[in-house]
Amino acid sequence: MDEKVGPGGKGHELALIEEHPILDFVHGEKVRFFFDGKELEGFEGEPISMALHANGVRIYRETAEMHRPRGFFCAIGKCSSCFMIVDGVPNVRTCITPLKAGMEVETQHGKGNVPDSNDGRAYS
Ligand code: FES
Repeated sequence: MDEKVGPGGKGHELALIEEHPILDFVHGEKVRFFFDGKELEGFEGEPISMALHANGVRIYRETAEMHRPRGFFCAIGKCSSCFMIVDGVPNVRTCITPLKAGMEVETQHGKGNVPDSNDGRAYS
C-alpha cells in the first residue's frame, strides 16, 4: 500500500496523533476498508469509528424519526450513537468493533433492517 488515503480521499494522510510525550502508539497492520462505497485506509484492530474519524468522517448514522446526524458520543460501547451497518449487519457499535481488512461500513439511516438470520452469515 503505497498510496496514502485519508481525509478528503486518496493522497491525504490519516489525521492521527503520531507522537505524544508520555504515550506510545502501537498500530496494527494498515488495511483498506470501504465507507459508503469509498475506499479508505485504517489500522487493523482499531475501532471502526476511530478509523473513520481519522479519515474525516464524523457522521455515522441518522436518527429514525428526526433524521438527525449522530457520531461519537460515549466511545465506550454504552450508547447507540455510533451504530452503523457493517458488512450488511445494522446496529453495530463501531466504537468498540475492531476494523478488519475489506470491511464494508455504511451510514445507517434509521433503525436499519435486520438481515435474514438464515443467510449463512454469523451475527454476533
Ligand atoms: S459512541 Fe456510544 S456506543 Fe459507540
